[in-house]
Amino acid sequence: MARYVFDNADHRNRTRFDSLAVFDPDSHAVLAAAGVAPGWRCWEIGGGDGGIARWLADRVGTDGSVLVTDIDTRWMAGSDHPALTVRKHDVVQDELPGADFDLIHARLVLIHLPLRRAVLDRLISCLKPGGRLVLEEFDLEHPLTPLAADARHRASFDAVHLPFLRALRAREVGVDWATSLPEEFAARDLRDIDVRTHTVLWRGGSDEIRLYRVNVEQTSDQLIADGVSTRDLDDFYALLDNPEFTAWSHPLMSISGTLPSH
Ligand SMILES: C[S@@+](CC[C@H](N)C(=O)[O-])C[C@H]1O[C@@H](n2cnc3c(N)ncnc32)[C@H](O)[C@@H]1O
Repeated sequence: MARYVFDNADHRNRTRFDSLAVFDPDSHAVLAAAGVAPGWRCWEIGGGDGGIARWLADRVGTDGSVLVTDIDTRWMAGSDHPALTVRKHDVVQDELPGADFDLIHARLVLIHLPLRRAVLDRLISCLKPGGRLVLEEFDLEHPLTPLAADARHRASFDAVHLPFLRALRAREVGVDWATSLPEEFAARDLRDIDVRTHTVLWRGGSDEIRLYRVNVEQTSDQLIADGVSTRDLDDFYALLDNPEFTAWSHPLMSISGTLPSH
């Protein structure tokens, strides 16, 4: 089975989680629209640093509960909340935690799992009738450099970004998984399907654009093996620090659906 592409032990994951937190207000809005309320029983999968799980725990209160799982829970240290339970768990193969969840949420997790379709079936089997599934994934195929971008900037970006996408495909990351989700949900008879996409233009030198640097740094061995030169990498990193450069964030697609009551 393919391993998670990024090394959880690497200290640069802090940068990844900080960059992803820029999407938290959108995730909160999607979860609020899904109806999360006091007393709900929720499962947050691949919770990373636990930020979304803590928000859910505040929302459901002590009459509710939030189970947050990940294959590596080190980044959730200190996630104390009376409604929150942190558990080490592999969503692909470990025993499922029950079949009575009001809400199951995963952001940027199934996209990494080669068996993502089977995992989707597993998650649906854990919803109670009327329960809500919310998945959020990056549309990795969406172009990131604006049309009006400086041609040299675009060439330097693509010299690394395109091999990075190839490396992800080789590791069975679902680069087109996000855009297939509305169909995947409908095929499993989930109802009230709601789809939203959020993207922002990031400027060189910003905290958020560092996500692209961390992703490339953590896969650089593969990129170099694929013919990317150290000069290409240096140009790419310099571009990400250049305030004249802008790039779109990967669009985050958020899909919600309800398990019918009968
Ligand atoms: C890109 S991070 C996203 C973290 C968090 N959901 C967020 O959006 O900030 C992917 C997370 O999924 C976890 N993960 C990877 N494979 C997993 C699996 N098989 N079961 C559970 N979690 C997994 C990783 O350890 C990591 O914390």
